[in-house]
Parts: sequence; structure tokens; C-alpha cells
Amino acid sequence: MRCVVGLLFLGAVTAHAATRFPTLGARLALSGHGSIRACADCHGSQGQGLPHFAYPKLAGLGFSYIFGALQSFADGRRLNGIMTPIARALTAPEMRALAVYYASFRPRPPHVARPADRLRLARGRRYYEHGDMSERLIACAQCHGRRGHGMGARFPWIAGQTEAYMKEQLRSFRAGARRGPGLGLMRNAARPLGARQINDIALYVSILGARPPLSIPVTNAAMPPIVPRRNFVPPRRDAIPHTVFGEAVRRGRAIFDYTARYAAPYVGNALSCGDCHLGEGRESGAGPMWAAAVLFPRSYQGRMTTLAARIQAAFIHSENGRAPPLNGPVLTDLLAYVHWMSRGGVIGAHAPGRGYPPIAEPKRGADAVRGASLYAQRCAVCHGDRGKGVRYNGRAVFPPVWGSLSFGRRASLARMSVMAAFLKRTMPYADPGTLGSGAAYDLAAFLETRPRSP
Ligand code: HEC
Ligand code: HEC
Ligand code: HEC
Ligand code: HEC
Repeated sequence: MRCVVGLLFLGAVTAHAATRFPTLGARLALSGHGSIRACADCHGSQGQGLPHFAYPKLAGLGFSYIFGALQSFADGRRLNGIMTPIARALTAPEMRALAVYYASFRPRPPHVARPADRLRLARGRRYYEHGDMSERLIACAQCHGRRGHGMGARFPWIAGQTEAYMKEQLRSFRAGARRGPGLGLMRNAARPLGARQINDIALYVSILGARPPLSIPVTNAAMPPIVPRRNFVPPRRDAIPHTVFGEAVRRGRAIFDYTARYAAPYVGNALSCGDCHLGEGRESGAGPMWAAAVLFPRSYQGRMTTLAARIQAAFIHSENGRAPPLNGPVLTDLLAYVHWMSRGGVIGAHAPGRGYPPIAEPKRGADAVRGASLYAQRCAVCHGDRGKGVRYNGRAVFPPVWGSLSFGRRASLARMSVMAAFLKRTMPYADPGTLGSGAAYDLAAFLETRPRSP
């Protein structure tokens, strides 16, 4: 009880502060203007939504998603009797201000389920976490994460969303009525859903994140836990200094994540460094740059090599391109980025978290045929049946995994053991840690049979 009062009190204080020093976003959200009704009437002053109606929670959704949703209501890609006229009356700066406002709130506690719902929840959970390939139902966790927290700007937070709203959206995706900026992925995900499945999944998602967690019977094999490894922590992204060096670091970071755009003359495919070195090259266990930086210069196959030469090799093989010159801007900026990120690391030390944690090949060997069917079940949804990935606004949102636009035969990732280790640690995106070592090797064997550049 005290906790509830505390929460209400906190809410009142925040809302009060917002009305006393109102930003444009707060003013519009809380009071509206002219023909625009206050968003808070339906979405709550802090984005908590109206659980009994299909008025969604906005808290937790993130700036890009909210802004994108408002734009797609306004330009007709997403239609809704209530929201379309509201969004059409907003200017772009107003949309941005509202998105900033609502993105600033933490998501509210989710609904609490009744014990009588346990069986429905168990079914909902099974679909959510595992899907059902006999019905071509893709696991929601694949894209929204097992805890429903989404991933980046494209995969929205759905944990604790209201049940009524969830049901409506799933029906509307299924019918193809809701489109929007989501690349049509939800249409495919929702198409095979029946009415009962929609109800069960919506219920399960609405209680995701409930504390203490409900004890829901598990009806399928338990998944291995993902153990986050806390090793060296690189400096925060916003700590890049505003100096000449800092500008080089910023350019280097842009090259790292949009390689084909910012280092075009040296790139022959659609991959960015960040597609394989995850989290902009910062993630422990996913090929972090801070672990590489402290190790060079080093001997490799009996010959000395430098970090610059290693990066040149990445351009030749992983990027299917050619080496940027040693003192040119591309290499200099990349080196600045890598060095900035490695500040505080110990030169010469083997940093835990380097590379991708190796895994042993199963005794039975790797089975490319099994890999092919695993690929269809767990990977094709993002990387495509023909491995081409998905492009959007000129950028590979889901990178190609074979063919001329993917990495070449001599790239590090083309080695089966490295690929298996990479997959086990990082894929499927948004839900890594759910592939067994055998499955990772089967997938690596399958990818090895696919065509790619020499
Ligand atoms: C009269 C009630 C009402 C008002 C007022 C209202 N909304 Fe909505 N809003 C809705 C409903 C209903 C939906 C679900 C639409 C759908 O089914 O596609 C929605 C959806 C949204 C979404 C998409 C949420 C998601 O999860 O995809 C955003 C963002 C949003 N509203 C923002 C706003 C903002 C900002 C305002 C104020 C300018 C506002 N709304 C005012 C009822 C309202
Ligand atoms: C292949 C990836 C993928 C899978 C699988 C997937 N989703 Fe989504 N989902 C998305 C994307 C992308 C969006 C954003 C859509 C947009 O903005 O147009 C989205 C949006 C949603 C939304 C709307 C959120 C909002 O606030 O309006 C809901 C609800 C949702 N997904 C539920 C589910 C459920 C339940 C499942 C499992 C049955 C599922 N998704 C499976 C990619 C996926
Ligand atoms: C197709 C995936 C892929 C792409 C794209 C890629 N790399 Fe790599 N990179 C790898 C793999 C795999 C390794 C080897 C890791 C290992 O052996 O444990 C590696 C190794 C490295 C290393 C040495 C790491 C160490 O710990 O010794 C550096 C530095 C590096 N890459 C930089 C880059 C840069 C910079 C780019 C972009 C120009 C890039 N890579 C693009 C997959 C990739
Ligand atoms: C939800 C979408 C999604 C799913 C499902 C998924 N991936 Fe990925 N994959 C990505 C994204 C996004 C990246 C790039 C990572 C980044 O930029 O942070 C990536 C990167 C890769 C790469 C390295 C880059 C390249 O194109 O070669 C490989 C290989 C790969 N994925 C294989 C797989 C395999 C095999 C599976 C199935 C087990 C899988 N992925 C499932 C989204 C997905």
C-alpha cells in the first residue's frame, strides 16, 4: 500500500513539475491546444495508458518509435479513427517535442494476472518464446526480446502493454491493415495467429515484467540463461571530447557503423564493421575493439602485424573491398575511435571478453542439412530466404549473410568455428543465447555451403 501511495505521489510531483515549467511537449501532452485534445486524456500524463480501453501505454516506447508512429498516422501509413486526425494536426517539431516528453517516462508496472489464467499464460508464453514452426509462427521473442524490452529503435518495447491494445494491434497486423515503418515484419509474424493464440499472447505480454514474477508452468524445454559478462567497460558514448581528436573519434564511429556510406571507396559489400562487432564494437564477447586495441602490435602466423594492418585486412576480406591507405582519413579516424574506446585498458593484457567465446564442435559433427532447416526457422525472418537481408533507407537493417553483398571466403567469419562462436553469442538478434552449440555449428556448416565472393 505504501508503495502504491509513493508511486502516486511521485507521479503527482513529476506532473506538477511538468506543469510549472512546461516544455512544449509537456504542454501539448497535458493540455492540448486548439483542436488537439490533451494526449494525457487517453495515454495518461506519464504514458501509462488506459488499461481497460485499447489506449496504449507510451512509456517505454522510446523517442524514435513514438515519433515514427506519429508520422505514420499523419501520412496515412497507419490509420486510426482517433489518432489520424490528431497526428495530422501536429507539426513535425510538435511531434518531436511530444516524443521527447513521453520517451522520458519509465514504463509502468504491468498488469497482474489471476491464478485462473495460468493455463492461458503458459500457452501464451510458449508461443511468445518459442513460436510454433508447424504453424509457421515465429517466436515474438526473436524480435522483441524474451522480456519484451525490444531492441533499438525498430523493435518496440511491448512488455506490460495493455491487453486490449495488444489484441487490436495483432489483429490489425494480421489483416495487413496496420503497416507503418516496421518493414512489414509484423505482418509475417502475425499472419498465422488464430483468435485464441492472439488472446493468450496478448495476456502473456500484458504481464511481462510483473514483479514478483508469476510462476507460470513451462511447457517447453527451458532455455539457457544469458549471462551478461561484465568485463572492461569502455567510456560512455557521450563522453567523446569536443576537440580535434574527439571529432576524429566521431567520424571513426560513423565509419564503423555505416561503413559503406562513410568509407565507400574501400567497401565492396553491404556490411558495416558494427554488423559483426556488435554494439558499435563495444560489446564484450562480440568482437570488442577495446580488447583488440591493447593487444597490437602482435605476431600473427609468425609475422608481426599492427592494428592498422589488421583493420586493412578487415576491409579486404570482411568488407570485400580494398585497404584504405595508412595515413589516410579513413584509417586514422577508425584508429582514433578504437583508441578512444580503449582508454583505461591495460596495454599488452589479454582482456577477458575479447573475440567471440569459442565453442567446441559437437562430436557428431556439423550438419548442414539441419542447419538449413534451422536457418529457415530462426534466421530467414530477418536475413531473408535467400540470405539477402533487408535494406531500408539505403542501409542494411538486416545484413546479407551470403552472396556478393556479404563477407568474402577469406574473412574471419567464414571460418566455421568462428562463425559458430559468433552465432552462439550474438544471434538471433534481440534474443541471443538461445542457440545450442550443436545448432550453432549446424548453422555455420549451412552458411559455409552458400555462395560468396572469393
Ligand atoms: C481520444 C483518445 C486519444 C488521444 C486524445 C490521443 N491518443 Fe494516441 N492513441 C489512441 C489510440 C486509441 C491509439 C491506438 C491506435 C491504433 O490502434 O493504431 C493511439 C496510439 C498512439 C500512438 C502509437 C502507440 C504505439 O504503441 O504504437 C502514439 C505514439 C500516440 N497515440 C501518441 C499520441 C499523442 C502524442 C497524443 C496527443 C497529441 C495522442 N496520442 C492523443 C488514443 C488517443
Ligand atoms: C521479425 C521480427 C518480429 C517478430 C517475430 C515479431 N515482431 Fe512485433 N514488431 C516488430 C516490428 C519491426 C514492429 C514495429 C512495427 C511498426 O512500427 O510498424 C513490431 C510491433 C509490434 C507491436 C506494436 C507495438 C505498439 O506499441 O504498437 C506489437 C503489439 C507486437 N509487435 C507484438 C508482437 C507479438 C505478440 C509477436 C509474436 C506473435 C511479435 N510481435 C513478433 C517485429 C517483430
Ligand atoms: C563479416 C563480419 C565482420 C566484419 C564486417 C568486420 N569484422 Fe572485424 N572481425 C571479424 C571476426 C570474426 C574477427 C575475428 C575474431 C576472432 O578471431 O576471435 C574479426 C577481427 C577483427 C579485429 C581483431 C580483433 C582481435 O581481437 O584481435 C579487428 C581490429 C577488426 N576485426 C576490425 C574490424 C573493422 C575496423 C571492420 C570494419 C572496417 C571489421 N572488423 C569488419 C568479423 C568482421
Ligand atoms: C531479429 C532479426 C535477426 C534474426 C532473427 C537473426 N539475425 Fe543475424 N543479424 C541481425 C542484425 C541486425 C545483424 C547486425 C548486427 C548489428 O548491426 O548490430 C545481424 C548479423 C548477422 C551476421 C553477421 C553479419 C553478416 O551479415 O554476415 C550473421 C552471420 C548473422 N546475423 C547470422 C544469423 C543467423 C545464422 C541467424 C539465425 C540463428 C540470425 N542471424 C538471426 C538480425 C537478425
